This record gives sequence, C-alpha cells and structure tokens, in this order.
Amino acid sequence: MEKLVSDAIAYRRSVRVYKDDPLDNDKVRKCLENAVLAPTSSNLQLWEFYHVVDTEICKKIAKASFNQPAARTAKQLVVVVVRKDLWRKRAKANVNFLKKAFGNKPDSQYSKKEKFALSYYKKIMPSIYTEFLGILGMIRYFFFSVVGLFRPVYRQVRSSDMRIVAHKSAGLAAENFMISMAAIGYDTCPMEGIDSLRIKKILGLPYASEINMLIGCGIREDSGVYGPRFRVPFESVYKLV
Ligand SMILES: Cc1cc2nc3c(=O)[nH]c(=O)nc-3n(C[C@H](O)[C@H](O)[C@H](O)COP(=O)(O)O)c2cc1C
Repeated sequence: MEKLVSDAIAYRRSVRVYKDDPLDNDKVRKCLENAVLAPTSSNLQLWEFYHVVDTEICKKIAKASFNQPAARTAKQLVVVVVRKDLWRKRAKANVNFLKKAFGNKPDSQYSKKEKFALSYYKKIMPSIYTEFLGILGMIRYFFFSVVGLFRPVYRQVRSSDMRIVAHKSAGLAAENFMISMAAIGYDTCPMEGIDSLRIKKILGLPYASEINMLIGCGIREDSGVYGPRFRVPFESVYKLV
C-alpha cells in the first residue's frame, strides 16, 4: 500500500545510513517513471536519470562523492543529469508530438492556436536556447532589458539563466522521485557534495551535460536519520499577499 502524498512527504528524510536489504530495481524504476511526470520548463525535458545498480559503479561514484555515508551505504544510486545540450532534439520531439495531436495536416490548415504552439518550438525556443560562447545570451539580455523598460518581458535569456531553468526542472523531477520512493517505504538522500566531473567520467557523460544531484537510495537504518527535522518557523517564510 502506498502512502498518501502528505504521509510520503512527512516520511521522506535525508537518510545517510542504509540497511543491507536490497531494493527492487523495478520499484525504483517505477519511481523514476514518476520523476519524469514532473513539470518541466517548456516541456523540454532536458534531463536524464542514471539508475545505478552495479555495485562496482556505485562504489566508484561513492568514492567520487568523498565516500560520504549517504553514498557509501546506499544500495543503489540515481544520478539526475541536466542535458541542456539536447534542447534541439527535445523541441523537435515536441513539434512531432503536436503535429500528430493536430492530425498531420498541411501547414496552411493549422488553426491560429496550433500555429502558435508549433512556432513556440520552431522559433521562440531556438531564439532563447541558441548560444555562442555566452555572447548571444548577453545580446538577448541587453535587448530584453531595454524592451523591459516599456513592457513586461521574459528576462531569463542568458546562458547562465538557461542553466538555472534546466536545473530547476530537474530538481522538481528529483523531488517527484524521492516522494515516490518514500511512498513505498524506500529512502533517499539528495547530494550535491560530489565531484561532478569524476561522476560524469564514470558514467561516460558528455562534456555539455551537468549533474543536478546524486541521490542515495536504500532502506533506512534508524541511525541514518540524523536527528529530528529542522525547519525555520513557517511564519517566517510564509507571506500571504
Ligand atoms: C540540492 C541538495 C543537496 C544536498 N546535498 C547533500 C549532501 O551532499 N550530503 C548530505 O548528506 N545531504 C545533502 N542534502 C540533504 C540536506 O542536508 C537535507 O535535505 C536537509 O538537511 C533537510 O533534511 P531532510 O531532507 O531530512 O528534511 C542535500 C539536499 C539538497 C536538496
């Protein structure tokens, strides 16, 4: 029986020490299938999820993560990878999906709404994602800053902004994954205390990819939860406007 969402959220803790009990690969995979249902900027899905079950590779990744307990004692690892470099491929996949949904007809027969949806991926996305040494992003930023003096504009257009956009979406997917794991009584620990370059090499990832986070997976030892949960008072972060 899966936990209710609120119960899974309450159950999830960052677990640093795991029992020796193995995890069911299929169950973890199912949680990753939930991860990709997370919302993603422009539905570009600029992510990949490496589900590492090979113990030797887990050991190598743990070593590259300073052998911190959450990685060292994990039974499996998930590496959430940002693939901003795949934007063209993903935009094309969206175009193909939309065309199929619209009923594969000549361009002239598309409605105004359908034309807008297609041009979003064919024109607007390339105008934001196309980059050359960060220069195009700076030109876009300058242009939108000037236009923005007179009307609302989209401002996240520099190369660094696009990285944040992609990492934001990957983080949402990671949370979907961790909550799904909690719902079935599996535990996780997100980690960014890692040598991302070494982990990229271990997994044979391309230079342009970026590691969003490493997630240790297993079943908690009671000692693996380091104390009660600490949050600053809700009233100090909740602003009713
Ligand atoms: C992006 C991110 C990176 C983190 N990196 C690490 C890490 O490298 N090692 C670790 O032990 N915990 C890491 N944590 C876990 C946090 O310390 C933990 O979420 C926080 O203390 C709150 O505890 P809770 O998750 O049990 O509620 C990370 C959490 C996030 C969201």
